[in-house]
Amino acid sequence: MRNYFIAGNWKMHKTRAEAADLAKALAAELKDGKHKYLVAPSFTALETVGAVVKGTNIMLGAQNMSSEEQGAHTGEVSVLQLKDLGVEAVILGHSERRHTYKEDDALINKKVKLALRHGLEVILCVGELLEEREAGNAEKVCETQTVEGLKDVSAADLARVTIAYEPVWAIGTGKTATPEDADAIHAYIRGVIGKLYGDDAAENIIIQYGGSVKADNAAQLMAKENIDGALVGGAALKAETFVPIAKFN
Ligand code: 13P
Repeated sequence: MRNYFIAGNWKMHKTRAEAADLAKALAAELKDGKHKYLVAPSFTALETVGAVVKGTNIMLGAQNMSSEEQGAHTGEVSVLQLKDLGVEAVILGHSERRHTYKEDDALINKKVKLALRHGLEVILCVGELLEEREAGNAEKVCETQTVEGLKDVSAADLARVTIAYEPVWAIGTGKTATPEDADAIHAYIRGVIGKLYGDDAAENIIIQYGGSVKADNAAQLMAKENIDGALVGGAALKAETFVPIAKFN
């Protein structure tokens, strides 16, 4: 039985005071929530939000990290620095990192392995562009990103990996994949995990959907067999829009 995992990616939003206010509201409103929860504020608010969610049922996540452990990497943030702030998980391979900041599968794989080696959980994002979907390549793109992102990741470490399927055309656009279309890709990705790691791993891996998840579509998406949670952007920025998603039923 897979547990639902609902995560909020706050992207480049919120000052420390704003982030603390949201984290406090979520800690209060989700304390009786049944699912697994995570919030990923900007680096600048990690310490502040970490102090609020410590000891609650909400995990602290980062939105990215360096592929290097430490050293002369101006402007980067290391896994050691994240762990020092109490970070428990990191989002890697987000489409905004892939497409705006030109991160490729090899770099993302290096980050995935480094995060896992240091005991963090990883949310590995995969997803196709609109033109890739229209060309009939959605499965192929997600397969390549999954296989390359997990290259040399052991079966034991895979237990700390969540996959987030985020079709790029659905992010921040208000266009959600239909529950059926999303479920089909999730099933395909689960099959890819099965080929790489076997049936048990495929059965157990959590695959989140991301892309314009809102209170009014969350329950239909989550009802699908292969959709095990959500990675939420815009609707994660306010308690009144995130809590109903986090408490869908
Ligand atoms: P939106 O929910 O704003 O579409 O963003 C999804 C996303 O990119 C989460 O990582």
